[in-house]
Amino acid sequence: MKIITVGNNKGGVGKTMQCFQLVCHLANLGHRVLAIDLDSQANLSSTLGVNIQRTLIPEWLIGDVGVEDVVVPVEGKAEFYSNIKLIPSSRHMANLAKLLILSESEVRKTAGRKERLLKLRLKAVEEQFDYVVIDTPPMLGDELIMSLVASHQILIPTQAQDYSIDGLEELMDTFEIIKETENPALEFSIIPSMVNSRRKIERQRLEELSQSFNVTPMIRNLVDMQESVAMKKPVFMFGQSAKGRKDYENLWNSLGLN
Ligand SMILES: Nc1ncnc2c1ncn2[C@@H]1O[C@H](COP(=O)(O)OP(=O)(O)O)[C@@H](O)[C@H]1O
Ligand SMILES: [Mg+2]
Repeated sequence: MKIITVGNNKGGVGKTMQCFQLVCHLANLGHRVLAIDLDSQANLSSTLGVNIQRTLIPEWLIGDVGVEDVVVPVEGKAEFYSNIKLIPSSRHMANLAKLLILSESEVRKTAGRKERLLKLRLKAVEEQFDYVVIDTPPMLGDELIMSLVASHQILIPTQAQDYSIDGLEELMDTFEIIKETENPALEFSIIPSMVNSRRKIERQRLEELSQSFNVTPMIRNLVDMQESVAMKKPVFMFGQSAKGRKDYENLWNSLGLN
């Protein structure tokens, strides 16, 4: 079971889009995929057709309920949807920090540290899935840190803009700490996201970014992509020549996710 987090402490960079495309792509290849929405905005959940009143993710992490109480099937006509299971989110996810404080001694007993809770819970479903894909909220909080501790790989969608690249340094510092302490095998990929390559400033920033980091092929800013989410139709279902489809095919090939 391979665990992949899509994360960036900045919002609106295309994290949820990337999760949706990746989850559907892997399911379409025949893999059993568990999608986990850790963002209280629950955008991945609603894109996968699931809207719930109150998520039990905090209770699941703490150990008050089992995985069967949080996993649901997803809605969708196409065949591949049957390969996807979802742990959906809701606004209640925002109570995670409070619950973790209230259950501190319990958490210490079972996981040692709260950062290890997600890793511990995912161990229990190792045989049931081939991939786990985690969508995270736009901050360096418990959700993202737990995900980094649990994951093999983090995909970091990044916009080619100054403030986006500045935020990246903070994320990379956290990445390094987790790699040194909890998860030495963690790998990262920086994915230029929502790129408008006709803008000179974006081309320059991308150039700079690729001097400091290994970056993957880019995902362009495309109307295609917005339609994909609005129609709940992943880009691989678009025509052969659709730009969004090509961008994602290149990306998954470069990451070996094909
Ligand atoms: N490649 C793209 N081209 C055009 N619009 C995009 C693209 N990727 C994402 N979007 C749109 O940008 C907005 C933010 O994307 P989203 O995935 O929700 O970001 P995040 O999860 O990082 O906050 C959404 O409206 C989404 O549909
Ligand atoms: Mg999101």
